[in-house]
Amino acid sequence: MPDISQYYNIEDLRRGAEQRLPRAIFDFFDGGSEDEITLRDNRAAFHRWCLLPKVLQDVSAIDSTCEIVGRPAKYPLVIAPTGGIGMGRPGADLAIARTAANLGIPYTLSTNATASIEAIAQQASGRLWFQLYVLQDRGFMEKLIARAEAAGFEALIPTVDLAVGGKRERDFRNGFSTRFKPQLRHYLKGMRKPAWALSILANGGLPDFINIRGYRGSEQTGETLASSVARDTDPAFNWDDLARMRDRWKRKLIIKGVSRVDDAMRLVALGVDGIWVSNHGGRQLDGAIASFDAMTAIAAAVGNKVSVIMDGGIRRGADLFMIRALGGEAGAIGRAGLYGVAAGGEQGARRALDILTDELIRAMQLCGTPRIADITPDLVGRRPA
Ligand SMILES: Cc1cc2nc3c(=O)[nH]c(=O)nc-3n(C[C@H](O)[C@H](O)[C@H](O)COP(=O)(O)O)c2cc1C
Repeated sequence: MPDISQYYNIEDLRRGAEQRLPRAIFDFFDGGSEDEITLRDNRAAFHRWCLLPKVLQDVSAIDSTCEIVGRPAKYPLVIAPTGGIGMGRPGADLAIARTAANLGIPYTLSTNATASIEAIAQQASGRLWFQLYVLQDRGFMEKLIARAEAAGFEALIPTVDLAVGGKRERDFRNGFSTRFKPQLRHYLKGMRKPAWALSILANGGLPDFINIRGYRGSEQTGETLASSVARDTDPAFNWDDLARMRDRWKRKLIIKGVSRVDDAMRLVALGVDGIWVSNHGGRQLDGAIASFDAMTAIAAAVGNKVSVIMDGGIRRGADLFMIRALGGEAGAIGRAGLYGVAAGGEQGARRALDILTDELIRAMQLCGTPRIADITPDLVGRRPA
């Protein structure tokens, strides 16, 4: 493994992950749906804006603390849920969760995680949120909610942009789209990535999607891949079901996968605590609006009524600055942390978070904003054509 300090930005970590992982797994992490227009536009949306820095401010001391969903946080940064990441490196979920806890960053565990709800609660001490896929088997789903409740998770995050699975063509091409049974070609390709192959061998094989093990009586193992989960989500889930979920879950409820202002307003009326603007990192509906564009409109409409979080395309600390400037409470990262842990284990996860938080602090200094509250809308503008 290269010296971790040689990774200077998130793109370096992405390349490190690409070198270490078999193509099928890297593509599952890195790819989006169909033409990957939304995937690319999530990143490009930040570039349509520019910073308008103030000079001659005392920026000798920077305070990046803020509130996220009513509680203090060290940075305007959250870890987004990513399923199946133990396939890239066994123990990946816990590595990110522990790193986030050490840095005061809320961590969201995926329904499809390769670590259990209980193990994360026992071994990572920070703020923990649980992301919920809406499963057709409502009894099984209720058990997941009860487990997150019993384990002390602070927030429940139903993901609502996955009524059906996105068309992820890289996965199809790699033979990764159905219940994944490694074939000879996968083993042969895996051997070309010896560090990865040895870590999987030492783990006794690919890790389980442990929280949904036994779903509908079928033993779901690591070989039955995430895309299959889309088959198990419930396309009938609607506003009435969500209202019932609001009644049932008394702690923080944050709805992930929102892109429209009218949906956001309806969620506010329904009494949610947070709106998580997201298009699933460009992995679901290709052609959907970029997250940052959606967020600016939604934050302007809902104001301070609820917390607005967004994910999609965050690769630089300055992205978090722009999110704050335009009314978001925090940015969440999926792939950035995932590339880090895939490239360099727990150290790599730490490196990813250090890169983003260092860049945020530098942006605050160079923009003349010593506190998060100083980051006001006048500090960003549309990039001139
Ligand atoms: C490999 C991978 C797995 C993901 N798994 C989930 C998941 O289980 N649940 C979910 O709500 N979102 C999932 N997402 C979407 C992320 O939570 C997030 O919306 C997205 O990654 C943000 O974009 P970014 O990767 O550009 O930061 C996943 C994303 C990736 C890349």
